[in-house]
Amino acid sequence: MALKSKDVGTVRNADLTDIEKVVEIANSSLTEYYTNNLMMDLYHSWKDAFMVYTLNDRIIGFIAGGKYSRTEARILLLAVEGRFRGMGIGKALMNEFIKLCRMHNIMSMRLEVRTDNREAIQFYSSYGFSTISTIRAYYSDSSDAYLMWKLI
Ligand code: ACO
Repeated sequence: MALKSKDVGTVRNADLTDIEKVVEIANSSLTEYYTNNLMMDLYHSWKDAFMVYTLNDRIIGFIAGGKYSRTEARILLLAVEGRFRGMGIGKALMNEFIKLCRMHNIMSMRLEVRTDNREAIQFYSSYGFSTISTIRAYYSDSSDAYLMWKLI
């Protein structure tokens, strides 16, 4: 799908009314199953780090960030609706999250990603994330995860 010049895309903080749509995107993009309650817990854990990307006021992507320690952030979830991938939307969400982290004096970031998720690994590598280790049977279907990390 190509964007038109009149299309307006923006990153903004999520609010509780966005949760249902975010859950829909998560469950159609990621392999784990997410409930509204779980997503609300993530939202409440660090509201400023829960952001959505809207295109003409419609949510088509989101990022949920968390704190791993006082100086390290964690990307908990990031997803863009299938037909809008490869258009810079993931990048826009990441850039806003990194900006927020810098405002909080956070110095590094970590995340877990399925070892077979080539697109996401490429995406994170393009941001300078390195694979630190493999976490065996991290996911509910016993798949492994890479732990990826970067200084910001
Ligand atoms: N192949 C190779 N490189 C890619 C790809 C791909 N399919 N997709 C993105 N990249 C890299 C490129 O370097 C790209 O920069 P460029 O276009 O200037 O070359 C850069 O990443 C940014 O790409 P975006 O268009 O911003 O990425 P997108 O909007 O598609 O979002 C995302 C990336 C979020 C990983 C998306 O593919 C997605 O939603 N995937 C399904 C859900 C998912 O796997 N999420 C991550 C799970 S891990 C976790 O949540 C912690």
